[in-house]
Amino acid sequence: MTDIDYARYDRIRPIRWTGDALELLDQRKLPFQTEYVSASTSDAVADAIHALIVRGAPAIGIAAAWGVVLAARDVDADNGVDALIKLEPAMQHLNAARPTAVNLAWALARMREVLHRAGDDWREVLKREARNIETEDLAANHEMGAMGAALIAPGSGVLTHCNTGSLATAGFGTALGVIRAGVAEERIARVFAGETRPWNQGARLTVWELQQDGIDATLIADAAASHLMKSGAVQWVVVGADRICANGDTANKIGTYQLAIAARHHGVKFMVVAPSSTVDMATASGDQIEIEERDPAELLSHRGERTVAEGIAAWNPVFDVTPHELIDAIVTERGVVERPDSMSMQVMFGPRFA
Ligand code: MRU
Repeated sequence: MTDIDYARYDRIRPIRWTGDALELLDQRKLPFQTEYVSASTSDAVADAIHALIVRGAPAIGIAAAWGVVLAARDVDADNGVDALIKLEPAMQHLNAARPTAVNLAWALARMREVLHRAGDDWREVLKREARNIETEDLAANHEMGAMGAALIAPGSGVLTHCNTGSLATAGFGTALGVIRAGVAEERIARVFAGETRPWNQGARLTVWELQQDGIDATLIADAAASHLMKSGAVQWVVVGADRICANGDTANKIGTYQLAIAARHHGVKFMVVAPSSTVDMATASGDQIEIEERDPAELLSHRGERTVAEGIAAWNPVFDVTPHELIDAIVTERGVVERPDSMSMQVMFGPRFA
């Protein structure tokens, strides 16, 4: 196990429950402004998820769970089942905020589940479950950090994509957690982060987050990834996930698929790190995943300033699917699935249920 000082990585928290509101670190403004916005209704939480004020698959699940707690304040019900019926519109609104990351639907399913069994203390039950979802995510990240780092040979270089750190989770991170653990154990000697156009999660969030921990990281243009791999500087690509299907196909930030193709070509290993809340055994393969498309304005402008000639069309899918054949290891808190396929996924996560 990693002998790692986790407290050192506990400085950034994207989500804070104050007791009567949810404070969300506005990730649109990082790295230059650290500002929390307060959401006091479930609609405000749904809007914040949609606007990427809070982002990253586990973090949006946690935020949605707290959104249900906020929605409960406007509901009069004698027991959990009654509350469940009355809370359903708010839950559906939260679920519709973003379509690709399954953690959102997963967290809402957990909230529904506890309501089924709750009596007149159903509001307290909801609060407890939201807190559980958050603390379990942090614990999962610590476990995945140790397991993922153990796969990496000492002295290796890694490339990561998007932001999978404390900002995207309850803390520590998934792929970034593996990188933190790997650096602490001196397995990882070099960290590269792709800028992750068009929203620049890598450039604005990941390298800033690592800088807070004193971990050196080198930013590259997304288009430099193959050139980097060819140079021999990286031995692993380590990424997170928004949805992992029953056959191991994995949706993650746009650009992940081309990194996996380039990695295979260059003999670089490819690791996906995600909690089991990201595993969707009800979806057979990546072909069935809804890929979110966002406003083309994200491509046509930079920080509000138009950079492309008027009249130009743009297409902006923000996730892609990496086929399982290109993945060397999926790391979850339940264990590592090497060379994932339907069989090895079933062994780890149980039978496909739809
Ligand atoms: O659009 P985003 O920023 O929410 O996309 C985030 C990603 O794709 C992450 O890689 C994924 O959610 C895993 S975060 C631990």
